[in-house]
Amino acid sequence: MAKIKIVNLVGARPQIIKASAISRAIRSHFSGKISEIIVHTGQHYDREMSQVFFDELEISKPNYNLGVGSARHGRQTGLMITGIEEVLLTEKPDCLILYGDTNSTLAGALAGSKQHFPVVHIEAGMRSFNKKMPEELNRIMSDHASTLLFAPTNAAFKNLIAEGFRPDNSPPFSIDNPKIYFTGDIMYDNTLFFATLAEKKKAFLFEKLQIERDAFGLATIHRDLNTDDVLRLNSILSTILALAEEHKMVFVMPLHPRTNISLKNNLGELFTRLNSSKYIRIIPPVSFLEMTLLEKASRIIITDSGGVQKESHFFKKPCIVLRKETEWVELVHNGTAMLADADPSLITAAFSFYLSKGSKLDFPGFYGDGKTADFILKEILMMFDKT
Ligand code: UD1
Ligand code: UDP
Repeated sequence: MAKIKIVNLVGARPQIIKASAISRAIRSHFSGKISEIIVHTGQHYDREMSQVFFDELEISKPNYNLGVGSARHGRQTGLMITGIEEVLLTEKPDCLILYGDTNSTLAGALAGSKQHFPVVHIEAGMRSFNKKMPEELNRIMSDHASTLLFAPTNAAFKNLIAEGFRPDNSPPFSIDNPKIYFTGDIMYDNTLFFATLAEKKKAFLFEKLQIERDAFGLATIHRDLNTDDVLRLNSILSTILALAEEHKMVFVMPLHPRTNISLKNNLGELFTRLNSSKYIRIIPPVSFLEMTLLEKASRIIITDSGGVQKESHFFKKPCIVLRKETEWVELVHNGTAMLADADPSLITAAFSFYLSKGSKLDFPGFYGDGKTADFILKEILMMFDKT
């Protein structure tokens, strides 16, 4: 039987991590039925934002790297569409897999759907209901250009239905007759797969960063609303510094390049104070195994990242979310994540609440059984009658 050919499209850090779950499932269970072409748009390009994940998560070298790099939204997305379209016309895949909500996702959705290649969207249906976020526009448009849509949560599945997607469509599926699924989250597949390995390979971090298990906080900040608004960035980082000093709790902060640039350019004095505090560890972005260990060993997580919010739940850590809203609403409803925006009093109150709660929080399994990638690949095969 001829194999089906898929294009696995990545560009930004979390997409490379997500794609590793699909690549691994193809290698482990579907190598006789599916062949994979990896296309990297080049949206992220620093070693620690890209190559490190290929090496560590054992993903094959991309068959194509479009090398698009950083630019304003229009130019970046346009260059990606041009490059992806050329690859699709050359490779003629059976379908194109996209992840999440970045400009790379949108470019893939537009290039694929306009050339009539079925688009498979993993992490479909996520909504913040805030169209000022570039990601919200990317998500909505990508979903509406897709043929198979895999929603990682029940809330996401319901969002799709509210936008007119029908849960009862029957095959053959197409952009005009799409199929929506409620699956788990492929990031949970990764966490289950890599958590033990992270402990084995990255234990040196405790000594290197001078941190102790269950005694430090972990913080990441990278959303444009927090990095490009200097008042917000100042407010968030000053609050973390104050909490760290008051509670004598170390905070590890792997900084996205975007945050690093803004902090150095706009908040030089604060940057110096952070670096001279014995409780703050500002470090470059870390690898996925390192991040996994830091999350697993931390006491509390403060973040504006979508992926890190969920991983805090996987590792049963309370999470303070530096946004007004989140797409992962079940975490907030469950009380194990709190929305604190960039407000010092909300961040401080959430921090005190979670420290006092200790281990009394409950973390139900919202995100599937760790086999979501297998489920998705089976459904793709079914679409092509190749099960
Ligand atoms: C992108 C996604 C965001 C996702 C994040 C994951 C969009 C609109 N945003 O945001 O949804 O959560 O990736 O990390 O697609 N830069 C470097 N080196 C790199 C990459 C970026 O220095 O390897 C710097 C550049 O100054 C660049 C800035 O970071 O202009 C922003 O990069 P960009 O890819 O545009 O957006 P992210 O903020 O990374
Ligand atoms: N991550 C990482 N190193 C870091 C910061 C994050 O490996 O220094 C991982 C994190 O564990 C998660 C993913 O990157 O799996 C989240 O990506 P990011 O926060 O960049 O984007 P988002 O999920 O918000 O789109």
